[in-house]
Amino acid sequence: LDNGLARTPPMGWLSWERFRCNIDCKNDPDNCISENLYMKMADLMVSEGFKDAGYQFVNIDDCWMAKERDSKGRLQADPDRFPHGIKALADYIHSKGLKLGIYEDFGTETCGGYPGSEYYMQSDANSFAEWDVDMLKFDGCNSDPKDMDTGYPVMSQFLNLTGHKMVFSCEWPLYQVVTKQKPNYAAIRNACNLWRNYGDVQDGWDSIVSIIDFYGKDEGNFSGFAGPGGWNDPDMLVVGDFGLSYNQQKTQMALWSLWSAPLFMSTDLRTIDNASKALLQHPGLIAINQDPLGAQAVRLYQISSLGVWLKPLAKTGSYAIGIVNRDDQGMPRTAKLQLKQLGLPGPSYNISDVFENKPLGVYTSNDMFSVSIDPTSIFVGLAIPSS
Ligand code: DGJ
Repeated sequence: LDNGLARTPPMGWLSWERFRCNIDCKNDPDNCISENLYMKMADLMVSEGFKDAGYQFVNIDDCWMAKERDSKGRLQADPDRFPHGIKALADYIHSKGLKLGIYEDFGTETCGGYPGSEYYMQSDANSFAEWDVDMLKFDGCNSDPKDMDTGYPVMSQFLNLTGHKMVFSCEWPLYQVVTKQKPNYAAIRNACNLWRNYGDVQDGWDSIVSIIDFYGKDEGNFSGFAGPGGWNDPDMLVVGDFGLSYNQQKTQMALWSLWSAPLFMSTDLRTIDNASKALLQHPGLIAINQDPLGAQAVRLYQISSLGVWLKPLAKTGSYAIGIVNRDDQGMPRTAKLQLKQLGLPGPSYNISDVFENKPLGVYTSNDMFSVSIDPTSIFVGLAIPSS
């Protein structure tokens, strides 16, 4: 979407995967969906270096609303959990130099059963603008995905008409893929800044592998639609949560970076350990993710357990290379390849290891490059032409 926003993949924090629809503030006040949770995460994004690393958005997901609209049909936040309202929360988030995102649904109700935007799209767009919200995630439960090709662009228009700049995050292709329709990615890119096209991420390696496969198959060449202003969204980062080993967290963070994916953490920033925090803030990976060319890595090979991914970078002739060992059994595997097999013409490149931030030497396109990769882990390299 050409609205001047999301020229590189947006980065932030989103409540859904980790905090879900926990509305029990009586028994679980620290973890329920409430203004306190978002304010706390905003504080930590600043004090723990996430903001300096590039994370900008604090995003609300489902279950923030009151069960009913007000007497004028307008959305309202749950009065007990958001006693000061969304505008006050936006003011607080802005005072920290961050941006606030909110959530609604294209259908009659959100997935959690709160009022949806069907018949109220313009009114809801106006509310978000009045509240100074900076981003909208628009879900697709309780609707007919066939209506999305006409309906999502209408919401995009209503947001635009408010005159208030809001990043528009769509779930339009996801609901179409699920119902076996073919997403029209050109139309989606026209109306949205980012778009989910695969099922919800869960906190485990199987979930990550299924997303890797979907992005590897790249049906409909959706990778080709990524670029400044519009991004494929493989869903939140679960780095720092319960389900992934450290190597698996590396793999998620690195692939999401190679894919130019939006980087939305969904983790408890109060308890995250230092290793996960360092991964989420890794300057080399974030630089790959935020590279101004905005190309999405594609999978060139999947041979046995090893998958090879390549992302062209803005610096002429330069690439980021990812090699994933998806096997969860046994021992490290050695990948051996010549750069010419990746289509790198040469004559020669400086190769460096991004995780270690270490030069590995100069390779011609015919030289054999080899690297050992632990189970469920990834190697990330940079190849920069050596003059
Ligand atoms: C489905 C979406 O795909 C999730 O990311 C999340 O927003 C839930 N709905 C909320 O109900």
